[in-house]
Amino acid sequence: MSENFKLDLIHRPRRLRRTASLRALVEETQLRPADFIAPLFVVDGRGSPEPVSSMPGVLRRNVADLVKECRALFKLGVPAVALFPKIDQRLKDEDGAVGLSEDGLVLRAVRAVKKAVPGLTVMTDIALDPYTTHGHDGVLTAGRDDVDNDRTVGILAQMAILHARAGVDMVAPSDMMDGRIGAIRQALNAAGFPQTAIMAYSAKFASAYYGPFRDAVGSAKAAGTHLLGKATYQLNPANRREALIEAALDEAEGADIIMVKPAGPYLDIIREVRGATNKPVAAYQVSGEYSQIHAAAKLGWLDYARTRHESLLAIKRAGAGMILTYFAKEMAVELVR
Ligand code: PBG
Repeated sequence: MSENFKLDLIHRPRRLRRTASLRALVEETQLRPADFIAPLFVVDGRGSPEPVSSMPGVLRRNVADLVKECRALFKLGVPAVALFPKIDQRLKDEDGAVGLSEDGLVLRAVRAVKKAVPGLTVMTDIALDPYTTHGHDGVLTAGRDDVDNDRTVGILAQMAILHARAGVDMVAPSDMMDGRIGAIRQALNAAGFPQTAIMAYSAKFASAYYGPFRDAVGSAKAAGTHLLGKATYQLNPANRREALIEAALDEAEGADIIMVKPAGPYLDIIREVRGATNKPVAAYQVSGEYSQIHAAAKLGWLDYARTRHESLLAIKRAGAGMILTYFAKEMAVELVR
C-alpha cells in the first residue's frame, strides 16, 4: 500500500526547491560585502598585533596596522568600520577623563584611517567604559551605586564633538543613558558638525554575550557581573516593548540609524524595530555570538563557514539592513570569490 501511495496535491512547495537554479530564483535574502561593518580594536604603541584569546582571529592593532586592515576591508567592499580603543590601565580613572583627551588613541586612529582611506565610513563608540577603572559606560553618582545619567550625557556630548573634529562619519553612542541622542545631536550641530551622523545603540540589552568584548578592550570584569551590573541602563533581555520605546525615543531625538544589540538572540526585536521605523536598522552580532561559533567549530560540533553564513543571513532576514560583525572580512572574502 505505502509503495504506490499518491497524493493529488495542488500545492507542492517542493516544486520550487527541486533544482539549484529554481532555488536561486526564489531566494529571498542575500548577503553582500556592503552589508557589513567591521568592529576593529586599536592599541597604542608600535607592537605587533595582539590576539584576543576569547575571540579567535580577532586582533588588537596599533594605528599603522589598523590603517592597513582598513585598506584591505575597503578593497573587499566592506563600506564601514567601528573603532574600539584598548586603553592602558594606568590611564584610566573613576571618571574616564582620558576619554576626553585631545590626543586620545581613538582620535589618532580616526585621523589616520580617514587620511589613508577617505572613502571608508568610520564610526566610533561613544561611551566611557574603555576609560573608566570600574568599566561602567558613564560616571558614577555620589553614592557610587549607579551611573549618573545627566552628568554622563554631558561628557558624552563633548566626546562626540572631539570624534567629529577628528573626522568620524558617524558616532555610535552605546551607553544607553536617557536623552543622549538629543544632547549629542544638539552638541554636534552647535559645534559645526551637522553632517556627522548618529547610529544609536537603541535597543542594547544587558547581555552575557558581551563577555569576550570586555576581554578585548580590557574593561573591568566587574561590570556586567553581580558586583557592578549594567542593568540600570542596558535593557532587560526579557523586554520587547521597552526596546521599542527606546527605538522611538532615539528616532525622535535625531538618530540616523537605529541599532539592535546583540543580534542573533534578538531577531524578534530586529523584526519589530524594522516594522516600527522607516530609519535604517542595524544589528550588532556581538563578541559572544562570534566566539560561540568558533568554540563549537573547534570542538568539531558545527561547520564553521556554514554556521557563520547562516548566523548572518538570519540577522539580515529578520530586517537588519547592516550588520556589525567580527566576521566582516571573512564574509567579504567568501562573497567576492
Ligand atoms: C560598551 C560596549 C560593549 C560592546 C560594545 N560597546 C560592551 C558592554 O556594553 O559592556 C559589546 C560588543 C561586543 O560584545 O562585541 N559601550
